[in-house]
Amino acid sequence: MKKPCVVLGVTGSIAAYRAADIAHRLVKAGCEVHCILTKSAQQLITERTMETMSGQPCITDMFAPPKQWEVEHIELAKRADVFLVAPATANFVGKMASGIADDMLTTTVMATKAPVLVALAMNTNMYENPVTQKNIAYLRSIGVRFLEPIEGDLACGTVGKGHIPETDDIVRATLDAMEEQRQPKDLTGLTVAVTAGPTREPIDPVRYITNKSSGKMGYAIARAAQLRGARVLLISGPTALEAPAGVEMVRVESTKDLLDALLPAAEQADIVVQAAAPADYRVAEVAPQKIKKQDGEPFVLTLTENPDVAKAVGENKRENQVLVGFAAETQAVRANATRKLDKKHLDFIVANDVTKPGAGFDVDTNIAAFLDHDGIEELPLMTKDALAHRILDRALAVLRAKQAR
Ligand code: CTP
Repeated sequence: MKKPCVVLGVTGSIAAYRAADIAHRLVKAGCEVHCILTKSAQQLITERTMETMSGQPCITDMFAPPKQWEVEHIELAKRADVFLVAPATANFVGKMASGIADDMLTTTVMATKAPVLVALAMNTNMYENPVTQKNIAYLRSIGVRFLEPIEGDLACGTVGKGHIPETDDIVRATLDAMEEQRQPKDLTGLTVAVTAGPTREPIDPVRYITNKSSGKMGYAIARAAQLRGARVLLISGPTALEAPAGVEMVRVESTKDLLDALLPAAEQADIVVQAAAPADYRVAEVAPQKIKKQDGEPFVLTLTENPDVAKAVGENKRENQVLVGFAAETQAVRANATRKLDKKHLDFIVANDVTKPGAGFDVDTNIAAFLDHDGIEELPLMTKDALAHRILDRALAVLRAKQAR
């Protein structure tokens, strides 16, 4: 099998030495890495170092006769699955934004159709200069991705934003972009609505009832669906997570808010995956002012049942629509999940016993089972990202089967 190919462009920042480690780490992660060094980069790191770390001949401007250039830059531009420039100077960003292709790196990056990732490293003032900012904003608007510089001690003796991002972050972003490239776009043309996270039910202006849901599972599903080409509507309760890029996100607080946001989203969706953990109860009367201590007396809160969001979506289910629910249980997983399948008109349920180590809240893994009327499929421990893809695989198969009927 062809190894995924990263073309690593290195420009003349003092952080060029970090490119050696980046190349080495990408090779260790299974990539084929081809380095292109600009003339200034060669003043800061040697071709020999980059060749040793990448295990491939390095491309520099100096030694390549122009004829060979043509072939080489087109060949590399085509070969790249991801194009990474690390470190990238203000000069490189300026050239790229202006369409200047006057050396091997700028020529190759212009000719590539691969996603381009740019890890910035420069003096703070150069970074903050409106010209640089305008160039970054423009390149971003045409799909170039930036890894922003971080705060740190700069070679010029100042402290500020301009330091190359952490090697770990650069390598991870490159591998993520690679993974993204390899994803089949099998959800293209479909709309997927996903709910995620807990809800908050207010008690008074400063207090609320909530649960342990982190939102990680729902966000993983939204991200996976987006990578596979779907239009994604993510309705999220309060979480600490960053909105996945490219999804349409609505933030909600209470279960009632979730219902109001999901019903119109579900109307547009081919697949609805409800990974949220909406609170089943809300406080009957929310106090308008902060509640005071009761001088040692017991304090009683009266709760009233919230709407069952999944049930409401199920009641409006369209033909050729797939509804997927979750069932987080602490006992009798199968019996409880089966009951929910019918009540909520779900096509299948992702059931899990949240008491098992590696399953449940605020961890990056899950142990789940798919359950429908035909039976149960137990899945091994896997990451929430991997589980997200399995859920989408199954939802798509159910959708295709319905459409074929
Ligand atoms: N769900 C919902 N609205 C609620 C409660 C749950 O839409 N008020 C959805 C969840 O998003 C999940 C599924 O229903 O997809 C099952 O959630 P769960 O909390 O396990 O089930 P409940 O129906 O609340 O049943 P119980 O709390 O009695 O176990």
